[in-house]
Amino acid sequence: MAVGVFDSGLGGLTVLDALSRRLPDVPFAYFGDNARAPYGVRDADDVYNLTTAAVERLWEAGCDLVILACNTASAAALRRMQDGWIPPEKRVLGVFVPLIEALTERRWGDNSPPREVAVKHVALFATPATVSSRAFQRELAFRAIGVDVEAQPCGGLVDAIEAGDEILAEALVRSHVEALKRRMPFPEAAILGCTHYPLMETTFQDALGDHVRVFSQANLVAESLADYLNRHPDMYGAGTESVFLTTGDPKAVSHKATQFLRRKITFQAA
Ligand code: DGL
Repeated sequence: MAVGVFDSGLGGLTVLDALSRRLPDVPFAYFGDNARAPYGVRDADDVYNLTTAAVERLWEAGCDLVILACNTASAAALRRMQDGWIPPEKRVLGVFVPLIEALTERRWGDNSPPREVAVKHVALFATPATVSSRAFQRELAFRAIGVDVEAQPCGGLVDAIEAGDEILAEALVRSHVEALKRRMPFPEAAILGCTHYPLMETTFQDALGDHVRVFSQANLVAESLADYLNRHPDMYGAGTESVFLTTGDPKAVSHKATQFLRRKITFQAA
């Protein structure tokens, strides 16, 4: 049994980490498309083609279920993939829905009509591709009414995090938060809509202020996957080993990943 986890690069490791803590007996096959990251500046066709190729590689690695631990892929490619590309015996799930369910206080699979929720002003921080897809607003509109979303495309932030440049990443977070606050001075909640951003969560919280509730995805996605696997035990897949695959240089990617997660991670060539 193995569950696939896909990201354009290293950001999905924040999700993988939460998944392995929540489901310690499940082997995970991780695919980082490091050679082609960042996805956030690519167009939707490009993201679709790269994401489908990566998911096929995870199926080869013995996975029947793949989590797109990448908001950009979830936003720009998932709907199109679900529209006939995914074979009937396979599943691909994104990272948006668990987050939106938490924000709108819904349980998994609650498909009742959209209703008023406690939060009214939500700040969304995400990659330019995720922001321009408007997938977050679309999914939110299925579940909630009267929520004002202000989205900030955080250009440059993924590159700074991937490069391990903490000073630049911190400066970018502060300037993106400032830019958002000029348009929405008092958000009640902030969504970190990119899997890289939890690595900068403290800076986001500090720049936003204590009164803003910051939602970050990893634990929400882990809870949702545990629930899904309980209901669909047939989706564990045939693979038995945890494996880390990359399209980048395995040695360099392993080094960065080990720094990211503060535990030894060894990638191999995809
Ligand atoms: N980490 C991915 C996300 O959640 C994509 C970052 C990128 O490749 O631009 O959006």
